[in-house]
Amino acid sequence: MPKSKKTSEQGARKASAHAFPKNAKKIGDPNPTQTKPASTPERQKPAVLGTPAWVGHPARVAIAIMAAGKGTRLKSKHPKVLHEVGGKPLLAHVVAAATQVVPAQDVYAIIGHEAERVREAVGSTGINFILQEEQRGTGHALMVAREALQPYDQVIVLSGDAPLITAQTISMIRDLHQSKRPAMTILTTRLADPTGYGRVIRKGAKSDEVQAIVEEKSANPAQKKITEINSGFYAFNVEPLYRHIDRLGTENPHGEFYLTDMAAVFRENKERVCAVVASDPQEILGANTRAELVDIDQRLRMTKCQQLMDEGVTIFYPQTCAIDTDVEIGADTVIEPFVQLLGNTHIGSDCRIGSYSVIHSSVIGDNVVLRPGCVLSESRVEAEARLGPYSHLRPGSEIGEGAHVGNFVETKKIRLGKSSKANHLTYLGDAEIGENVNVGAGTITCNYDGVRKHKTVIEDGVFIGSDATLVAPVRVGKGAYVGAASCITDDVPADSLAIGRARQIVKEGWAKEKRATRTQAERAK
Ligand code: UD1
Ligand code: CA
Repeated sequence: MPKSKKTSEQGARKASAHAFPKNAKKIGDPNPTQTKPASTPERQKPAVLGTPAWVGHPARVAIAIMAAGKGTRLKSKHPKVLHEVGGKPLLAHVVAAATQVVPAQDVYAIIGHEAERVREAVGSTGINFILQEEQRGTGHALMVAREALQPYDQVIVLSGDAPLITAQTISMIRDLHQSKRPAMTILTTRLADPTGYGRVIRKGAKSDEVQAIVEEKSANPAQKKITEINSGFYAFNVEPLYRHIDRLGTENPHGEFYLTDMAAVFRENKERVCAVVASDPQEILGANTRAELVDIDQRLRMTKCQQLMDEGVTIFYPQTCAIDTDVEIGADTVIEPFVQLLGNTHIGSDCRIGSYSVIHSSVIGDNVVLRPGCVLSESRVEAEARLGPYSHLRPGSEIGEGAHVGNFVETKKIRLGKSSKANHLTYLGDAEIGENVNVGAGTITCNYDGVRKHKTVIEDGVFIGSDATLVAPVRVGKGAYVGAASCITDDVPADSLAIGRARQIVKEGWAKEKRATRTQAERAK
């Protein structure tokens, strides 16, 4: 969905529902007072019998995301919806799509298994949480959400384990539901292999109305042959949903309340249920097993590479690169094979990222070259800088414009000024390094005394000879020289030379004498 639309939709419902009735088990809302979406019009009596209550004013739409399940099939100790694809939790993808369609305060995640961890992972988005303490099925999840959702006219139900859903498809379900006005709209798709999914039983081959959804385990052989499957995404009119939801039973192989059974319940109660076929079947894919999880991850990453290439980024062998969903890269940047770009990494234009580099949540300016094998995390590299091969930038490293960091150089929490160079075999930690500084090969900042970390300051234009050890806290003044192999323990004044090493001794003829005595001894044998 284009950004402008998002803004206008959000604007229209800015002060919408976040209010909570007294008994709702909403987490993190200590003082629930109101019972209705805040700024929307009062509920109106239906004008005509059978007309939904919301007709006559814009429908108040909530999105409920079912995310309480344990994920037994993943065989994991972690909650299912926190497993990651494209570099972030399954649930975070669904929340991102949902909040493009309705404001965050109208999104409700139904959580249960390891609820606190799940809440923590997506809490910053501003969505609401509903606790489903015992997970007794998808129908039960919606039963638990009753009080939170009752102030709305419609609810769109999504699955926290199906992360490929897009804002466009959610809007499509909403719009179709609003134009056809059934009690329930089911998003479906046709799959060559429908195994494991609920099958959609239509009223007739050409009817868009649905009679029932039959789960895999309850399906008879004829029903198993049906290739139209239930995506697990629905739109409901809230009023008939909660008028009938208590009719759900648990007579099924899992002994659970199936939300899918609402189709049959509605049909028995003369309410209409419609199906709408998803245009892109991949959007419905759920991560129920490890194999499905990595399949979805690959799809997301290939889509990401395709999108970046469309925007002018060259990615050689994209199938060997792992680029997270939230990464941004400028045009004319080249990504060599076997690169990982993770988290919130932003890379400028005209860069070259060498093979086997792994960049995590870092910002890189324009025209930067990373030779192969660089590892960066939570760092910042300014334009025109040159790194690698095999540079290791640990969190808090800031590399200035045009600076060089070479092979086997490790940095942590430092600022390396404009045009400064640390080209070989060096450790720079907790250091402030000015502009045009030359850090010789093998230089080490001794920043840790076994108890505390201390800072090294190297001012502009300093020359640090090779193999220097700088014992922090220490300051090397502007324009000073440090002799090679010096151990610097005291501050060095500007424009001076500091040498801190044992004076060289030369013993003339010593080696020649040694050789001569050895030869004599050998002869005597
Ligand atoms: C569900 C549908 C199936 C559909 C498939 C599509 C049911 C009974 N079946 O099956 O028809 O084809 O999705 O992917 O709904 N959850 C809760 N609370 C619970 C149980 C589940 O929040 O008590 C959550 C899960 O965490 C998950 C989602 O609901 O995110 C779906 O549950 P899951 O067990 O994965 O259902 P499926 O077997 O995939
Ligand atoms: Ca599922």
